[in-house]
Amino acid sequence: FFFTKMDEVTPVQRNCNLFRYKGYCFLKQLHNKESVDALQDFLTREDDVFLVTFPKSGTVWTQHILSLICSEGYRKGTENTSTIDTVPWFDFNLTKQDYDEIPSPRLFVTHLSPCLVPRDLKNKKGKVIYVIRNPKDVMTSMYYFNNMAVLSQKQPNFGKFMEAFLSGDVYAGSWFDHVRGWYTHKDDFNILYIKYEDMIMDLRSVVKQICTFIGREMDEASLNNVAEKAAFKEMKKDPRANREDAPEELVDKSKGTFMRKGTIGDWKNEMTVAQSEQFDALFEEQMKDLPLTFTWDLP
Ligand code: A3P
Repeated sequence: FFFTKMDEVTPVQRNCNLFRYKGYCFLKQLHNKESVDALQDFLTREDDVFLVTFPKSGTVWTQHILSLICSEGYRKGTENTSTIDTVPWFDFNLTKQDYDEIPSPRLFVTHLSPCLVPRDLKNKKGKVIYVIRNPKDVMTSMYYFNNMAVLSQKQPNFGKFMEAFLSGDVYAGSWFDHVRGWYTHKDDFNILYIKYEDMIMDLRSVVKQICTFIGREMDEASLNNVAEKAAFKEMKKDPRANREDAPEELVDKSKGTFMRKGTIGDWKNEMTVAQSEQFDALFEEQMKDLPLTFTWDLP
């Protein structure tokens, strides 16, 4: 037998720092069932923007882009704030801000799945930007990030990490469930989908798309400026973007950097042919009924 205990808190097999609830994996240190349930009661505003990603899909990148679009001071480098201040985490308030006091339009970031976000958001009160990335690159990026993430359970090698990833025994749970959830519930939300790969290939167009979606007008020069400032090499040297202020109890910065490679197809350097085929077979099985075409690799 196999029943998914959606409404019960259950342990996560390969990671004792996590608990599973409603199909998502939370850090015990930051959440419990009650705090998770309370998130749904959060009152959204029409002009709130929630950036939603599965981890390692380009969260910080898009956070930085939103900050650049929405604040001229940030764009000019005169604003001495981090992305966590301008686009705070919705589900854990690291900077201890009073979210009700933030002037509109508020920007939030989260990895949550659709059944866990504020109820209002499902009634299209507020906007969602969902960033999706080739799951093989997500997995590779997460494997390296795991070394830096203090609360992650370390796996002895890439193969073991892949087992955990494919079983959804990692922070945020299963990539497949996350993408499926946000796709199948798309009509409930006012949502813009963005692909990491499109950002790599034509960042300026994606910045423009984001501006249109959140109702921000930008002249050509400013658009170019945002795209330039959000390039990997620019972000890597910008402490506001590079999460240099991430709390030590969560991130060990001596073990790596947030801005690692920022490329398409790094999975080819990690996965064996057999691992890639195993991944493809599971992908096909899990995603075949979704009318989505995934074109991840560069032509
Ligand atoms: P890699 O580990 O493959 O380099 P997240 O912010 O969701 O945790 O995602 C992190 C990934 O996004 C990392 O991928 C990081 O390098 C990449 N990234 C961050 N900023 C980027 C940028 N400006 N251009 C390209 N990739 C970027």
